Amino acid sequence: MPIVIEKLTHTYQNGSVNAFTALKDISLTISDGEFVGLIGHTGSGKSTLIQMLNGLMQPTEGRVTVDGFDMNDKKQRAKGRALVGMVFQYPDHQLFDETVYKDISFGPKNMKLNEEEIDKRVREAMRLVGLDFDEFAEKSPFELSGGEKRRTALAGIIAMYPKYLVLDEPMAGLDPAGRRAVLEMIDDFRRQLGCAVIMVSHSMDDIARSAEKVVVLRKGEIFRCGTPQEIFSLSDELREMGLEPPFAARMAGELRRRGMDLPKDIYTNEALVKALAEIKGGAHV
Ligand SMILES: Nc1ncnc2c1ncn2[C@@H]1O[C@H](COP(=O)(O)OP(=O)(O)O)[C@@H](O)[C@H]1O
Ligand SMILES: [Mg+2]
Repeated sequence: MPIVIEKLTHTYQNGSVNAFTALKDISLTISDGEFVGLIGHTGSGKSTLIQMLNGLMQPTEGRVTVDGFDMNDKKQRAKGRALVGMVFQYPDHQLFDETVYKDISFGPKNMKLNEEEIDKRVREAMRLVGLDFDEFAEKSPFELSGGEKRRTALAGIIAMYPKYLVLDEPMAGLDPAGRRAVLEMIDDFRRQLGCAVIMVSHSMDDIARSAEKVVVLRKGEIFRCGTPQEIFSLSDELREMGLEPPFAARMAGELRRRGMDLPKDIYTNEALVKALAEIKGGAHV
């Protein structure tokens, strides 16, 4: 069963002079195991939208159901929320325990799992996010680097085996190597846990690499929703919104303008390299 968002509108400080409508008439379905990329300019409503997915906020209008549980209903919300693991934009806010081990085991403990199962999950989650158990388990979260904190926050969420993993800008502030590592990690545990991933990013390169479905928000509305191929072929529209198309798409566009016969559907570095290799190989035939 999926997450279904129906005609969702959200107004902050509704009814006051400061009322601000951050989301307008959003309808969207997130299927089992799907990797959805959510992109949009700063302020387009990405964080607001994903906070609706675990019932942290209730929409002013419309509704969200998680596997049939209505997130507007207090009792059903708790059941829906148990399926959704959320990693916030600023992982520091999510870490609060004395040690990395305690922090990661917090969620599984709340699920009333037994000690053995908790220990198994903490070790597995640490391995998945690339934190060495002996080195990090007893460290204080406050001694960690930014990247390590992010990994710890992620581990704490995946140890709960969420059916839907929601990530708000998980690569923000990381260098390209760090970004790649986090993305690979996300792909890994998606494969292992079979969970759906909803990832917010303003980097189209990151989204191009992993997402099966891309949702573009503009000023609180869905501008487009489609496959990466459909979305990244709209480079002019995206640019107008202040979104830079993926590097490979820009490069392929530039080479086409210079007369090179490259397919229109290139948006990952791998595809670009492949197309260039084919042209080079073909020249000798
Ligand atoms: N608590 C709040 N009260 C009033 N306005 C808010 C609040 N949180 C966010 N907003 C506004 O809602 C809009 C969408 O914000 P947000 O969902 O954080 O966008 P994004 O994550 O895409 O940058 C922004 O204009 C922001 O200023
Ligand atoms: Mg945000």
